[in-house]
Amino acid sequence: MERTLILLKPDCVQRRLIGRVVTRLEDKGFDIIAMKMMRVTPELSRRHYAEHVKKAWYPDLERFITGGPLVAMIVEGPEAIRVVRDMVGATNGLDAAPGTIRGQFSSSRQMNLVHASDGPDSATREVEIFFDEAEIV
Ligand code: CDP
Ligand code: MG
Repeated sequence: MERTLILLKPDCVQRRLIGRVVTRLEDKGFDIIAMKMMRVTPELSRRHYAEHVKKAWYPDLERFITGGPLVAMIVEGPEAIRVVRDMVGATNGLDAAPGTIRGQFSSSRQMNLVHASDGPDSATREVEIFFDEAEIV
C-alpha cells in the first residue's frame, strides 16, 4: 500500500470539477484517507514547490496556486503513487493522453487541475507538509 498527496488545484474548484475528479479516483478503488479544503499561502507554496522556486515561471505558479481555495487529499492504495500519476497524465493538458484527467479536462500547462506526488520521497514529504497525523483517518 502507498499513500500519495493529491491537490485539486484552484482551477478544479472554480470549474466545479471536484466531484468528477474524486469519482475517478474512487472508481479506480483508491481510499481517500484525508481531505480538506484550504487556501495555500505563499510560504506553503514555496515549501511544496521547492524544486521549482528558482524557475522563471514560479511567480506565476505561486499566483495561481494561492489564488483560490483548493482541496488537499491523501489517497491510499496499491502502487498509488505511480497509478495516480498515470491517471493524471502529462503536465501540459495539451500533451496529456485523452483518457487521463488532464487530458480530459485541461488545455493548459499551468491550469492542469490536479497535483499528484511524483515518487515515494516526494509523497512522504508532501503528505507531511499538508497534513498532521491527527487529520489522517
Ligand atoms: O505537476 P507536474 O509534476 O506534472 O509538473 P511540474 O513540472 O512538477 O510542475 C509543477 C506545476 O507547475 C505544474 O503542474 C503546473 O501547474 C505548473 N507549471 C507552470 O505553471 N509552468 C510551467 N512551465 C511548468 C509547470
Ligand atoms: Mg512535479
